[in-house]
Amino acid sequence: MGIGEGKGEGPGIFITFEGGDGAGKTTHLNFLANALRQQGCEVVCLREPGGTSIGEDLRAVVLDENNSAMADETELLIYEAARAQLVREVIIPALQQDKVVLCDRFYDSTIAYQAYGRGLPIQAVKMANNFACQGVHPCRTIMLTTGDEDDSVLEGLQRATKHGEADRLEQAGIAFHANVRRGFREIAEANPERIRVVSSAVPKPQTARAVFREIADIFEWGDVDERFGREFFDSIELVNTDAKAVVDQGSNPARAE
Ligand code: TMP
Repeated sequence: MGIGEGKGEGPGIFITFEGGDGAGKTTHLNFLANALRQQGCEVVCLREPGGTSIGEDLRAVVLDENNSAMADETELLIYEAARAQLVREVIIPALQQDKVVLCDRFYDSTIAYQAYGRGLPIQAVKMANNFACQGVHPCRTIMLTTGDEDDSVLEGLQRATKHGEADRLEQAGIAFHANVRRGFREIAEANPERIRVVSSAVPKPQTARAVFREIADIFEWGDVDERFGREFFDSIELVNTDAKAVVDQGSNPARAE
């Protein structure tokens, strides 16, 4: 078992959030982080690519819409370079200190975007993932989905881009994003124990409750309505759900946007 994979088997708990652009990952990650802190957990929130000073620089390069000449192989290696730095500099130390690490995207995104989306050979992408991850694996992954139709890909993209210009990945087109979505679906089907699919096509409190249910066993919460109270999930409507950057990146020196 790798680092982060199981409560009781090693230190720390590593949970990732995945899904297409605009699926609500940041909102639900932040809401969960706040709840965990209220329960007394030390939580580190991260995003990929990014979460370290080097990673944020790499993020700027890989998402820059002016870099339209970027080869798919280069794109893959930039995501992996950012990941390797994050794992080494932040994730491994945090898990060793028994913290809860929540990450907005991780290696499943690379399979979905660079293998299914760009069409790079899946084995090459998996090898690159393994190299960058240095033995670290999430114990649970919440995969948020926006719906079943291609319309929802468009809706997700519109939500993701409503505050500014689309970045290089968001500009990649509907067909690309439909392939990414298929990728996420197949990855989830192949890993039913780790990956829990949660719909974000319903009101936010409902999605939040489903997210908590899917990780309740890790934290031994039992019934989440009893544990947190029904009104608790409604409070997600009150938080600033448009925040793009993750609220708290722990003690690492990541650059604020
Ligand atoms: P986001 O943080 O706003 O989701 O932006 C990150 C973008 O990068 C998003 O379009 C997904 C993409 N991405 C990949 O293509 N491969 C990866 O491995 C990761 C982590 C993200």
